[in-house]
Amino acid sequence: MSENKKEEMDTLVALLKRRGFIYPTALIYDGVAGFFDYGPYGAAMKENIKRVWWEQFVSSRENIYGIDGAIVLPRVMLEASGHVGGFSDPITEDTETGERFRADHLLEEAGVDTEGMSTEDMTEAIEEGEIKSPAGNPLSEARDFNLMLKTQLGSDSGPRGEAYLRPETAQSIFVNFKNILDSFSPKLPFGIAQIGKAFRNEISPRNFVFRIRELEQMEVEYFVREEEWSEHFSEWQNIMNEFASRVGIDPDKLHEVEVSEADRAHYSKRTIDFEFEYPFGQKELWGLAYRTDYDLSRHIEHSGAKLEYFDQESGERFVPHVIEPSLGIERTMLAIFLSAYSTDETGEESRVFLKLPYEIAPVKVAVFPLLKNKPQLTSKAREIFSEIKKEIPATHFDDNGNIGKRYRRQDEIGTPFCITVDFDTLEDDSVTVRHRDTGEQERVAVSDIIAKIKNS
Ligand code: GAP
Repeated sequence: MSENKKEEMDTLVALLKRRGFIYPTALIYDGVAGFFDYGPYGAAMKENIKRVWWEQFVSSRENIYGIDGAIVLPRVMLEASGHVGGFSDPITEDTETGERFRADHLLEEAGVDTEGMSTEDMTEAIEEGEIKSPAGNPLSEARDFNLMLKTQLGSDSGPRGEAYLRPETAQSIFVNFKNILDSFSPKLPFGIAQIGKAFRNEISPRNFVFRIRELEQMEVEYFVREEEWSEHFSEWQNIMNEFASRVGIDPDKLHEVEVSEADRAHYSKRTIDFEFEYPFGQKELWGLAYRTDYDLSRHIEHSGAKLEYFDQESGERFVPHVIEPSLGIERTMLAIFLSAYSTDETGEESRVFLKLPYEIAPVKVAVFPLLKNKPQLTSKAREIFSEIKKEIPATHFDDNGNIGKRYRRQDEIGTPFCITVDFDTLEDDSVTVRHRDTGEQERVAVSDIIAKIKNS
Protein backbone atom coordinates (compact mmCIF):
# COMPACT_ATOMS: atom_id res chain seq x y z
CA MET A 1 0.00 0.00 0.00
CA SER A 2 1.42 3.43 -0.90
CA GLU A 3 1.99 6.01 1.85
CA ASN A 4 -1.03 8.06 0.64
CA LYS A 5 -3.32 5.07 0.62
CA LYS A 6 -2.09 3.99 4.03
CA GLU A 7 -2.80 7.45 5.36
CA GLU A 8 -6.30 7.38 3.82
CA MET A 9 -7.03 4.11 5.58
CA ASP A 10 -5.46 5.19 8.91
CA THR A 11 -7.43 8.46 8.90
CA LEU A 12 -10.71 6.65 8.32
CA VAL A 13 -10.00 4.00 10.98
CA ALA A 14 -9.10 6.73 13.50
CA LEU A 15 -12.29 8.68 12.72
CA LEU A 16 -14.46 5.59 13.09
CA LYS A 17 -12.95 4.85 16.50
CA ARG A 18 -13.01 8.44 17.74
CA ARG A 19 -16.61 8.99 16.71
CA GLY A 20 -18.01 5.74 18.11
CA PHE A 21 -18.48 3.54 15.03
CA ILE A 22 -15.96 0.71 15.32
CA TYR A 23 -13.59 -0.30 18.15
CA PRO A 24 -11.05 -3.13 18.18
CA THR A 25 -12.33 -5.87 20.53
CA ALA A 26 -10.83 -6.09 24.04
CA LEU A 27 -8.64 -3.08 23.43
CA ILE A 28 -7.86 -2.63 27.12
CA TYR A 29 -6.18 -6.05 26.88
CA ASP A 30 -4.31 -5.06 23.69
CA GLY A 31 -7.08 -6.37 21.45
CA VAL A 32 -7.54 -9.67 19.65
CA ALA A 33 -6.79 -9.88 15.92
CA GLY A 34 -9.76 -10.25 13.61
CA PHE A 35 -12.50 -9.07 15.98
CA PHE A 36 -14.23 -5.70 16.26
CA ASP A 37 -16.95 -4.18 18.42
CA TYR A 38 -19.48 -1.73 17.08
CA GLY A 39 -20.17 1.45 19.00
CA PRO A 40 -23.56 3.22 18.96
CA TYR A 41 -23.14 4.67 15.45
CA GLY A 42 -21.60 1.51 14.00
CA ALA A 43 -24.37 -0.64 15.48
CA ALA A 44 -27.04 1.75 14.15
CA MET A 45 -25.45 1.77 10.72
CA LYS A 46 -25.26 -2.02 10.61
CA GLU A 47 -28.95 -2.20 11.47
CA ASN A 48 -29.71 0.27 8.66
CA ILE A 49 -27.75 -1.79 6.12
CA LYS A 50 -29.54 -4.95 7.23
CA ARG A 51 -32.93 -3.25 7.06
CA VAL A 52 -32.33 -2.03 3.50
CA TRP A 53 -31.03 -5.47 2.45
CA TRP A 54 -33.95 -7.31 4.07
CA GLU A 55 -36.42 -4.99 2.42
CA GLN A 56 -34.79 -5.28 -1.00
CA PHE A 57 -33.88 -8.99 -0.97
CA VAL A 58 -36.65 -10.44 1.21
CA SER A 59 -39.74 -8.52 2.26
CA SER A 60 -40.41 -6.68 -1.01
CA ARG A 61 -40.49 -10.03 -2.84
CA GLU A 62 -43.20 -12.63 -2.80
CA ASN A 63 -41.05 -15.71 -3.06
CA ILE A 64 -38.29 -15.23 -0.50
CA TYR A 65 -38.56 -16.80 2.96
CA GLY A 66 -36.43 -15.17 5.67
CA ILE A 67 -35.08 -17.40 8.45
CA ASP A 68 -32.76 -17.15 11.46
CA GLY A 69 -30.79 -20.37 11.95
CA ALA A 70 -28.50 -21.55 14.76
CA ILE A 71 -24.85 -20.50 14.69
CA VAL A 72 -23.42 -23.70 16.21
CA LEU A 73 -23.70 -26.63 13.80
CA PRO A 74 -22.94 -30.33 14.28
CA ARG A 75 -19.84 -31.79 12.68
CA VAL A 76 -21.82 -34.27 10.62
CA MET A 77 -23.63 -31.46 8.82
CA LEU A 78 -20.40 -29.64 7.94
CA GLU A 79 -18.81 -32.90 6.81
CA ALA A 80 -21.69 -33.22 4.37
CA SER A 81 -21.26 -29.66 3.10
CA GLY A 82 -17.55 -30.28 2.46
CA HIS A 83 -16.35 -27.75 5.05
CA VAL A 84 -14.67 -30.23 7.43
CA GLY A 85 -12.64 -31.68 4.55
CA GLY A 86 -12.12 -28.68 2.34
CA PHE A 87 -12.72 -25.26 3.90
CA SER A 88 -9.10 -24.25 4.16
CA ASP A 89 -6.45 -21.74 3.19
CA PRO A 90 -2.80 -22.53 2.35
CA ILE A 91 -0.48 -21.88 5.26
CA THR A 92 3.30 -21.72 5.63
CA GLU A 93 5.48 -21.22 8.72
CA ASP A 94 8.56 -19.19 9.48
CA THR A 95 10.87 -22.11 10.32
CA GLU A 96 12.67 -20.11 13.01
CA THR A 97 9.91 -18.21 14.82
CA GLY A 98 6.98 -20.55 14.06
CA GLU A 99 4.88 -17.60 12.92
CA ARG A 100 2.27 -18.61 10.34
CA PHE A 101 1.34 -16.86 7.12
CA ARG A 102 -0.99 -17.31 4.16
CA ALA A 103 1.28 -18.95 1.59
CA ASP A 104 -0.65 -17.44 -1.34
CA HIS A 105 -0.37 -13.94 0.16
CA LEU A 106 3.40 -14.17 0.57
CA LEU A 107 3.76 -15.47 -2.98
CA GLU A 108 1.54 -12.74 -4.40
CA GLU A 109 3.51 -10.09 -2.52
CA ALA A 110 6.58 -11.55 -4.23
CA GLY A 111 4.89 -11.15 -7.62
CA VAL A 112 3.86 -14.80 -8.15
CA ASP A 113 0.41 -15.40 -9.64
CA THR A 114 -1.14 -18.12 -7.43
CA GLU A 115 -4.32 -18.63 -9.45
CA GLY A 116 -5.18 -22.32 -9.47
CA MET A 117 -2.08 -23.37 -7.47
CA SER A 118 -2.20 -26.40 -5.17
CA THR A 119 -0.27 -26.38 -1.87
CA GLU A 120 2.40 -28.53 -3.59
CA ASP A 121 2.72 -25.89 -6.35
CA MET A 122 3.07 -23.22 -3.67
CA THR A 123 5.80 -25.15 -1.86
CA GLU A 124 7.66 -25.43 -5.16
CA ALA A 125 7.20 -21.71 -5.91
CA ILE A 126 8.47 -20.79 -2.42
CA GLU A 127 11.58 -22.93 -2.96
CA GLU A 128 12.21 -21.79 -6.52
CA GLY A 129 11.71 -18.12 -5.73
CA GLU A 130 13.65 -18.45 -2.44
CA ILE A 131 10.80 -16.64 -0.77
CA LYS A 132 11.36 -15.82 2.87
CA SER A 133 9.11 -14.86 5.79
CA PRO A 134 8.70 -11.12 6.54
CA ALA A 135 11.43 -11.62 9.18
CA GLY A 136 13.75 -12.92 6.44
CA ASN A 137 13.77 -16.58 7.56
CA PRO A 138 13.15 -19.73 5.47
CA LEU A 139 9.56 -20.91 5.10
CA SER A 140 8.13 -24.38 5.65
CA GLU A 141 6.13 -26.39 3.10
CA ALA A 142 2.69 -24.99 2.32
CA ARG A 143 -0.24 -27.01 3.68
CA ASP A 144 -3.97 -26.63 4.09
CA PHE A 145 -5.30 -25.08 7.31
CA ASN A 146 -9.01 -25.56 8.09
CA LEU A 147 -10.66 -22.23 8.81
CA MET A 148 -13.55 -23.39 10.95
CA LEU A 149 -13.73 -22.56 14.65
CA LYS A 150 -14.38 -25.70 16.63
CA THR A 151 -16.32 -26.05 19.84
CA GLN A 152 -17.44 -28.87 22.10
CA LEU A 153 -21.00 -29.46 23.18
CA GLY A 154 -22.07 -30.49 26.68
CA SER A 155 -19.74 -32.64 28.77
CA ASP A 156 -18.94 -35.02 25.92
CA SER A 157 -15.32 -34.40 25.02
CA GLY A 158 -15.30 -37.04 22.25
CA PRO A 159 -16.16 -36.72 18.56
CA ARG A 160 -19.92 -36.94 19.29
CA GLY A 161 -19.82 -33.55 21.01
CA GLU A 162 -17.81 -31.89 18.24
CA ALA A 163 -19.41 -28.88 16.65
CA TYR A 164 -18.38 -25.78 14.73
CA LEU A 165 -19.37 -22.16 14.55
CA ARG A 166 -20.84 -21.92 11.08
CA PRO A 167 -18.42 -20.70 8.41
CA GLU A 168 -21.23 -19.33 6.21
CA THR A 169 -24.92 -18.69 6.82
CA ALA A 170 -25.74 -20.68 3.66
CA GLN A 171 -25.60 -24.10 5.35
CA SER A 172 -28.35 -23.19 7.85
CA ILE A 173 -30.47 -22.42 4.80
CA PHE A 174 -29.86 -25.73 3.01
CA VAL A 175 -30.79 -27.78 6.07
CA ASN A 176 -34.04 -25.80 6.33
CA PHE A 177 -34.99 -26.40 2.70
CA LYS A 178 -37.38 -29.24 3.57
CA ASN A 179 -38.91 -27.32 6.49
CA ILE A 180 -39.80 -24.44 4.17
CA LEU A 181 -41.22 -26.82 1.55
CA ASP A 182 -43.34 -28.57 4.20
CA SER A 183 -44.58 -25.39 5.88
CA PHE A 184 -45.18 -23.15 2.85
CA SER A 185 -45.33 -25.31 -0.32
CA PRO A 186 -43.54 -22.67 -2.38
CA LYS A 187 -43.38 -22.90 -6.17
CA LEU A 188 -40.05 -22.66 -7.99
CA PRO A 189 -38.26 -20.32 -8.23
CA PHE A 190 -38.14 -19.36 -4.57
CA GLY A 191 -35.46 -18.34 -2.11
CA ILE A 192 -34.53 -18.73 1.52
CA ALA A 193 -32.67 -15.81 3.03
CA GLN A 194 -30.76 -15.13 6.19
CA ILE A 195 -28.73 -12.47 7.94
CA GLY A 196 -26.37 -13.71 10.62
CA LYS A 197 -22.94 -14.28 12.05
CA ALA A 198 -20.36 -16.56 10.50
CA PHE A 199 -16.89 -17.41 11.80
CA ARG A 200 -13.60 -18.06 10.05
CA ASN A 201 -10.30 -18.67 11.78
CA GLU A 202 -8.43 -16.50 9.27
CA ILE A 203 -4.65 -17.05 9.34
CA SER A 204 -3.83 -13.40 8.89
CA PRO A 205 -6.76 -11.11 9.63
CA ARG A 206 -5.92 -7.72 8.16
CA ASN A 207 -7.03 -4.47 6.62
CA PHE A 208 -9.36 -3.40 9.43
CA VAL A 209 -12.78 -5.06 8.99
CA PHE A 210 -11.94 -6.43 5.54
CA ARG A 211 -10.66 -9.81 6.73
CA ILE A 212 -12.00 -10.70 10.14
CA ARG A 213 -12.74 -13.85 12.12
CA GLU A 214 -16.26 -13.02 13.28
CA LEU A 215 -18.33 -11.60 10.45
CA GLU A 216 -21.92 -11.15 9.44
CA GLN A 217 -23.38 -12.29 6.14
CA MET A 218 -26.56 -11.51 4.24
CA GLU A 219 -27.30 -14.43 1.94
CA VAL A 220 -30.04 -15.77 -0.28
CA GLU A 221 -30.13 -19.31 -1.64
CA TYR A 222 -32.42 -19.05 -4.64
CA PHE A 223 -33.79 -22.40 -5.82
CA VAL A 224 -34.39 -22.68 -9.56
CA ARG A 225 -34.82 -25.22 -12.35
CA GLU A 226 -31.43 -26.18 -13.76
CA GLU A 227 -32.27 -24.91 -17.25
CA GLU A 228 -33.19 -21.47 -15.87
CA TRP A 229 -30.07 -20.80 -13.78
CA SER A 230 -28.52 -18.30 -16.16
CA GLU A 231 -31.49 -15.93 -16.30
CA HIS A 232 -31.82 -15.94 -12.49
CA PHE A 233 -28.08 -15.35 -12.13
CA SER A 234 -28.48 -12.14 -14.19
CA GLU A 235 -31.55 -11.14 -12.18
CA TRP A 236 -29.57 -11.30 -8.90
CA GLN A 237 -26.62 -9.54 -10.47
CA ASN A 238 -28.95 -6.59 -11.18
CA ILE A 239 -30.44 -6.68 -7.67
CA MET A 240 -26.93 -6.56 -6.15
CA ASN A 241 -26.06 -3.53 -8.27
CA GLU A 242 -29.27 -1.78 -7.19
CA PHE A 243 -28.40 -2.49 -3.56
CA ALA A 244 -24.88 -1.10 -4.03
CA SER A 245 -26.31 2.12 -5.37
CA ARG A 246 -28.94 2.38 -2.64
CA VAL A 247 -26.44 2.02 0.21
CA GLY A 248 -24.06 4.55 -1.32
CA ILE A 249 -21.22 2.46 -2.78
CA ASP A 250 -19.28 4.46 -5.38
CA PRO A 251 -20.11 2.84 -8.76
CA ASP A 252 -16.76 3.95 -10.19
CA LYS A 253 -14.97 1.85 -7.58
CA LEU A 254 -17.17 -1.23 -7.99
CA HIS A 255 -16.18 -3.88 -10.54
CA GLU A 256 -17.74 -7.18 -11.51
CA VAL A 257 -15.08 -9.80 -12.08
CA GLU A 258 -15.68 -13.25 -13.56
CA VAL A 259 -13.91 -15.80 -11.33
CA SER A 260 -11.89 -18.39 -13.27
CA GLU A 261 -12.67 -22.07 -12.89
CA ALA A 262 -9.39 -22.64 -11.03
CA ASP A 263 -10.28 -19.99 -8.45
CA ARG A 264 -13.95 -20.83 -7.93
CA ALA A 265 -15.17 -22.60 -4.79
CA HIS A 266 -15.56 -26.36 -5.24
CA TYR A 267 -19.37 -26.07 -5.46
CA SER A 268 -19.58 -23.34 -8.07
CA LYS A 269 -20.04 -23.51 -11.86
CA ARG A 270 -20.03 -19.73 -12.25
CA THR A 271 -19.03 -16.97 -9.83
CA ILE A 272 -18.89 -13.23 -10.21
CA ASP A 273 -17.01 -11.32 -7.55
CA PHE A 274 -18.14 -7.79 -6.93
CA GLU A 275 -14.80 -6.14 -6.21
CA PHE A 276 -14.22 -2.74 -4.65
CA GLU A 277 -11.21 -0.45 -4.98
CA TYR A 278 -10.11 -0.30 -1.32
CA PRO A 279 -6.98 1.73 -0.47
CA PHE A 280 -5.17 -1.61 -0.07
CA GLY A 281 -6.16 -2.77 -3.58
CA GLN A 282 -9.11 -3.97 -5.63
CA LYS A 283 -10.53 -6.91 -3.70
CA GLU A 284 -13.71 -8.89 -3.14
CA LEU A 285 -16.69 -7.11 -1.65
CA TRP A 286 -19.46 -9.66 -2.40
CA GLY A 287 -19.95 -12.84 -4.38
CA LEU A 288 -22.64 -14.17 -6.67
CA ALA A 289 -22.38 -17.91 -7.29
CA TYR A 290 -24.20 -20.60 -9.22
CA ARG A 291 -23.90 -23.42 -6.66
CA THR A 292 -25.66 -26.00 -8.87
CA ASP A 293 -27.40 -28.76 -6.84
CA TYR A 294 -24.15 -29.44 -4.96
CA ASP A 295 -25.30 -28.62 -1.43
CA LEU A 296 -28.73 -30.21 -1.50
CA SER A 297 -27.27 -33.33 -3.13
CA ARG A 298 -24.55 -33.61 -0.46
CA HIS A 299 -27.11 -33.24 2.32
CA ILE A 300 -29.33 -35.86 0.67
CA GLU A 301 -26.36 -38.22 0.48
CA HIS A 302 -25.28 -37.72 4.07
CA SER A 303 -28.62 -37.35 5.88
CA GLY A 304 -30.89 -39.53 3.75
CA ALA A 305 -33.50 -36.75 3.82
CA LYS A 306 -35.61 -36.22 0.69
CA LEU A 307 -34.56 -32.73 -0.28
CA GLU A 308 -36.48 -32.74 -3.53
CA TYR A 309 -38.98 -30.48 -5.16
CA PHE A 310 -42.22 -32.00 -6.43
CA ASP A 311 -43.77 -30.26 -9.41
CA GLN A 312 -47.49 -30.89 -9.08
CA GLU A 313 -48.27 -29.97 -12.68
CA SER A 314 -45.73 -32.22 -14.40
CA GLY A 315 -45.47 -34.82 -11.64
CA GLU A 316 -41.64 -34.47 -11.75
CA ARG A 317 -39.44 -34.81 -8.70
CA PHE A 318 -35.99 -33.22 -8.78
CA VAL A 319 -33.28 -31.46 -6.80
CA PRO A 320 -33.35 -27.73 -7.60
CA HIS A 321 -30.24 -25.76 -8.52
CA VAL A 322 -29.12 -22.71 -6.55
CA ILE A 323 -28.08 -19.12 -7.24
CA GLU A 324 -26.46 -17.46 -4.25
CA PRO A 325 -25.93 -13.72 -3.75
CA SER A 326 -23.66 -13.48 -0.68
CA LEU A 327 -22.84 -10.16 0.97
CA GLY A 328 -20.62 -9.53 3.98
CA ILE A 329 -21.84 -6.70 6.18
CA GLU A 330 -18.46 -5.46 7.39
CA ARG A 331 -17.01 -5.18 3.86
CA THR A 332 -20.22 -3.41 2.85
CA MET A 333 -19.70 -0.93 5.69
CA LEU A 334 -16.08 -0.39 4.72
CA ALA A 335 -17.00 0.24 1.06
CA ILE A 336 -19.73 2.65 2.16
CA PHE A 337 -17.35 4.57 4.45
CA LEU A 338 -14.68 4.77 1.74
CA SER A 339 -17.28 5.98 -0.77
CA ALA A 340 -18.75 8.51 1.67
CA TYR A 341 -15.54 10.00 3.07
CA SER A 342 -15.30 13.57 1.77
CA THR A 343 -13.46 16.78 2.50
CA ASP A 344 -14.04 20.37 1.44
CA GLU A 345 -13.39 23.95 2.41
CA THR A 346 -16.30 25.81 3.98
CA GLY A 347 -15.45 29.43 4.57
CA GLU A 348 -11.95 29.42 6.03
CA GLU A 349 -12.01 25.94 7.40
CA SER A 350 -11.52 22.58 5.83
CA ARG A 351 -13.94 19.92 6.96
CA VAL A 352 -14.39 16.16 6.80
CA PHE A 353 -17.83 14.73 6.22
CA LEU A 354 -19.36 11.36 5.49
CA LYS A 355 -21.76 11.58 2.56
CA LEU A 356 -23.90 8.69 3.79
CA PRO A 357 -27.29 8.09 2.18
CA TYR A 358 -30.14 9.17 4.47
CA GLU A 359 -31.29 5.53 4.94
CA ILE A 360 -27.82 4.46 6.06
CA ALA A 361 -26.78 7.43 8.22
CA PRO A 362 -26.89 6.47 11.94
CA VAL A 363 -28.21 9.91 12.89
CA LYS A 364 -30.62 11.60 10.49
CA VAL A 365 -31.16 14.91 12.28
CA ALA A 366 -29.30 16.80 15.02
CA VAL A 367 -31.03 19.59 16.91
CA PHE A 368 -28.96 22.33 18.60
CA PRO A 369 -29.79 25.30 20.74
CA LEU A 370 -27.51 28.10 19.49
CA LEU A 371 -26.25 28.68 23.05
CA LYS A 372 -26.22 26.16 25.85
CA ASN A 373 -26.60 28.60 28.74
CA LYS A 374 -29.84 30.30 27.59
CA PRO A 375 -32.74 28.38 29.16
CA GLN A 376 -35.29 29.79 26.67
CA LEU A 377 -33.27 28.50 23.73
CA THR A 378 -32.57 25.15 25.34
CA SER A 379 -36.17 24.49 26.26
CA LYS A 380 -37.43 25.53 22.80
CA ALA A 381 -34.77 23.31 21.18
CA ARG A 382 -35.79 20.38 23.43
CA GLU A 383 -39.43 20.89 22.49
CA ILE A 384 -38.62 20.87 18.75
CA PHE A 385 -36.29 17.88 19.23
CA SER A 386 -39.06 15.84 20.96
CA GLU A 387 -41.52 16.57 18.14
CA ILE A 388 -39.05 15.55 15.41
CA LYS A 389 -37.94 12.46 17.34
CA LYS A 390 -41.51 11.14 17.37
CA GLU A 391 -41.43 11.03 13.55
CA ILE A 392 -37.71 10.42 12.97
CA PRO A 393 -36.33 8.36 15.88
CA ALA A 394 -32.69 8.74 14.78
CA THR A 395 -32.76 12.40 15.84
CA HIS A 396 -30.16 13.56 18.38
CA PHE A 397 -29.93 16.56 20.67
CA ASP A 398 -26.52 18.22 20.92
CA ASP A 399 -25.59 21.25 23.03
CA ASN A 400 -21.98 20.29 23.65
CA GLY A 401 -19.33 22.83 22.59
CA ASN A 402 -19.68 25.75 20.23
CA ILE A 403 -21.86 25.52 17.14
CA GLY A 404 -18.88 25.06 14.79
CA LYS A 405 -17.70 22.06 16.80
CA ARG A 406 -21.19 20.56 16.74
CA TYR A 407 -21.39 20.87 12.95
CA ARG A 408 -17.99 19.24 12.62
CA ARG A 409 -19.04 16.37 14.86
CA GLN A 410 -22.26 15.76 12.94
CA ASP A 411 -20.44 16.05 9.58
CA GLU A 412 -17.99 13.38 10.69
CA ILE A 413 -20.75 10.94 11.56
CA GLY A 414 -22.65 11.76 8.36
CA THR A 415 -25.77 13.43 9.80
CA PRO A 416 -27.67 14.80 6.77
CA PHE A 417 -29.50 17.63 8.62
CA CYS A 418 -28.59 19.93 11.51
CA ILE A 419 -31.23 22.21 12.97
CA THR A 420 -30.29 25.25 15.00
CA VAL A 421 -32.69 26.98 17.34
CA ASP A 422 -31.75 30.66 17.84
CA PHE A 423 -33.30 33.87 19.20
CA ASP A 424 -35.33 34.40 16.01
CA THR A 425 -36.95 31.02 16.60
CA LEU A 426 -38.51 32.44 19.78
CA GLU A 427 -40.03 35.26 17.70
CA ASP A 428 -41.07 33.62 14.42
CA ASP A 429 -41.09 29.86 15.12
CA SER A 430 -38.56 29.12 12.38
CA VAL A 431 -35.17 27.39 12.54
CA THR A 432 -31.98 27.13 10.51
CA VAL A 433 -31.66 23.85 8.63
CA ARG A 434 -28.12 23.05 7.47
CA HIS A 435 -27.53 20.52 4.70
CA ARG A 436 -24.50 18.28 5.26
CA ASP A 437 -23.21 17.93 1.70
CA THR A 438 -23.36 21.56 0.63
CA GLY A 439 -23.11 23.25 4.01
CA GLU A 440 -26.01 25.43 2.84
CA GLN A 441 -28.38 26.81 5.42
CA GLU A 442 -31.99 27.80 4.99
CA ARG A 443 -34.71 29.13 7.23
CA VAL A 444 -37.64 26.74 7.70
CA ALA A 445 -40.86 27.08 9.72
CA VAL A 446 -40.93 24.63 12.63
CA SER A 447 -44.20 23.19 11.31
CA ASP A 448 -42.50 22.36 7.97
CA ILE A 449 -39.31 20.71 9.28
CA ILE A 450 -40.43 17.07 9.04
CA ALA A 451 -41.90 17.43 5.54
CA LYS A 452 -38.75 19.27 4.43
CA ILE A 453 -36.47 16.49 5.70
CA LYS A 454 -38.59 13.65 4.38
CA ASN A 455 -38.85 15.23 0.93
CA SER A 456 -35.17 16.14 0.61
N1 GAP B 1 -21.91 -18.65 1.17
C1 GAP B 1 -20.88 -18.22 0.28
C2 GAP B 1 -19.74 -17.61 0.97
O1 GAP B 1 -19.66 -17.59 2.19
P1 GAP B 1 -17.54 -16.26 0.55
O2 GAP B 1 -17.02 -15.62 -0.69
O3 GAP B 1 -16.62 -17.14 1.32
O4 GAP B 1 -18.84 -17.05 0.10
C3 GAP B 1 -19.13 -14.30 1.10
O5 GAP B 1 -18.09 -15.13 1.52
C4 GAP B 1 -18.91 -12.88 1.55
O6 GAP B 1 -18.69 -12.84 2.98
C5 GAP B 1 -17.67 -12.22 0.96
O7 GAP B 1 -17.92 -11.73 -0.33
C6 GAP B 1 -17.41 -11.13 1.97
O8 GAP B 1 -18.29 -10.06 1.78
C7 GAP B 1 -17.76 -11.81 3.28
N2 GAP B 1 -16.57 -12.40 3.92
C8 GAP B 1 -16.07 -13.64 3.75
N3 GAP B 1 -15.00 -13.84 4.54
C9 GAP B 1 -14.79 -12.71 5.23
C10 GAP B 1 -13.86 -12.29 6.22
N4 GAP B 1 -12.91 -13.11 6.69
N5 GAP B 1 -13.97 -11.04 6.72
C11 GAP B 1 -14.95 -10.20 6.30
N6 GAP B 1 -15.86 -10.55 5.37
C12 GAP B 1 -15.80 -11.78 4.84
